[in-house]
Amino acid sequence: MGLQFRSLSMLVLLVWLYWWPRVESQVPGPEIRSAKALDVILQDYAYRAFVRPRTGIPYDGAPPSNLSGIQISAMRLRSGSLYMRGVQMYKEFTIPVGVREEPYVERLVLVYQNLGNWSTAYYRLPGFMYLAPILGLLAYDASNLSAKNLRELHVRASEEPISIEFRQVKPVPDGSIARCVWFDLNGRTNFTNVTSGNKCATFEQGHFSIVVESTAPSPSPASPIPQVPTPSHGGGGNNSKVWTIVGSVIGGVALLVLLALLMLLAWRFNKRKKMHRMEKAAEAGEALHMTTVGNTKAPAATTTRTQPTLETEYVP
Ligand SMILES: *[C@@H]1O[C@H](CO)[C@@H](O)[C@H](O)[C@H]1NC(C)=O
Ligand SMILES: *[C@@H]1O[C@H](CO)[C@@H](O)[C@H](O)[C@H]1NC(C)=O
Ligand SMILES: *[C@@H]1O[C@H](CO)[C@@H](O)[C@H](O)[C@H]1NC(C)=O
Ligand SMILES: *[C@@H]1O[C@H](CO)[C@@H](O)[C@H](O)[C@H]1NC(C)=O
Ligand SMILES: *[C@@H]1O[C@H](CO)[C@@H](O)[C@H](O)[C@H]1NC(C)=O
Repeated sequence: MGLQFRSLSMLVLLVWLYWWPRVESQVPGPEIRSAKALDVILQDYAYRAFVRPRTGIPYDGAPPSNLSGIQISAMRLRSGSLYMRGVQMYKEFTIPVGVREEPYVERLVLVYQNLGNWSTAYYRLPGFMYLAPILGLLAYDASNLSAKNLRELHVRASEEPISIEFRQVKPVPDGSIARCVWFDLNGRTNFTNVTSGNKCATFEQGHFSIVVESTAPSPSPASPIPQVPTPSHGGGGNNSKVWTIVGSVIGGVALLVLLALLMLLAWRFNKRKKMHRMEKAAEAGEALHMTTVGNTKAPAATTTRTQPTLETEYVP
C-alpha cells in the first residue's frame, strides 16, 4: 500500500494512543470510588457506636448487616492530647507524639476499619496477593457526632511514623518478599518494607495491608465489585466522571471511524492511480499486445488474469 497511507494511519494511531491513557488516568477506577463510598458508610456506622463517649476510649461499632465481616471502631480525642501524647495502642495502630490534623479541629474522631474478607472486593491490587486484611485509619471532625458524609481531616505524623502491627499475617510464600502497601485517600498506592515480619510504618492516614507479588494470573478484572450505596451528598462528582468515560468512548469510536475512512480513501486513491497508469500505458501502446477475441482484436496486458471479453455494445 502507499507510503502516505501508512504514515497517515500511524499518525492517527499515535494521536489516539497519546490521548487515550490521559483521559483514562483522570478517571479513578470503580474500585477506588466504591472504596470511598465504603468509607462514608463506615464513618456513619462507627459514629453510631458513640453514646456519651469518653475521650481516648475505642468504641466498637457494628457495620450494616450486608457488610458483615468488617470491623469498625471509633475513638474521640482532643487534638492537643493527640499531639502531645499520641495513642499507645488503638487496635493494630500505635500513634506516636507529634501527629497533627489539617484543618485544625478541637476534637477529632479516629475511625478504625478492618475490612476482613471484604478487603479484595474493595481494594483490588492486580499482580499482588494479600497476606493480611486491609486496615484503615481515618480522621474526622468530632464536633457533631450525628454528622454523616464527613470529609476526612488530613493527618500527618511530624516526628516518628505511625506504626501498624498486623495480627493475622499469612506465611510468605517461598521466594517472595512481603511488602507493606498503603492506599492514600486518593487511591494512590505506595509500597514500603515490612519490619519485624508484621509491621508497617506510615506518616499519613489511609488503608494498609501486607502483600506479596503473585505469580499466578491476577483475577479477571470482570470480577464483580460490590455495589455500595453512594450517599446522596456524594453523588454529584460521579456524574462528570461518567460523562468523561462516555466522552472518551465516543471519541475513541469517532477516531476508529476516521481511521476506517482514511483507509477507504487511500485504497480508492491507489486504485484510481493504478487505473490512470494503465490508461496512459494503453494510450502509449506499450506493454500491451493485441489478442484475438472472437473475430476481432483487443488489447491485453501480459499480466491480465482474466481474458478480455467483448464489450456489450460491440456490433459485428
Ligand atoms: C464475609 O463473611 C461474612 C460472614 O462472616 C459474610 O456474610 C459475607 O458475605 C462475606 N463477604 C464476602 C465479600 O465474601
Ligand atoms: C449534626 O448533623 C446532623 C446530620 O447531618 C444534623 O441533622 C444536625 O443538625 C447537626 N447538628 C449540629 C449541632 O450541627
Ligand atoms: C512512597 O514512599 C516513599 C518512602 O516513604 C516516599 O519516598 C515516596 O515519596 C512515596 N511516594 C508517594 C507517591 O507517596
Ligand atoms: C527495603 O528492603 C530492601 C531489601 O530487603 C533494601 O534493599 C532496601 O534498602 C529497604 N528499603 C528501606 C527504605 O529500608
Ligand atoms: C446494603 O443494604 C442497603 C439497604 O439497607 C442497600 O441499599 C445496599 O445496596 C446494600 N449494600 C451492599 C454492599 O450490599
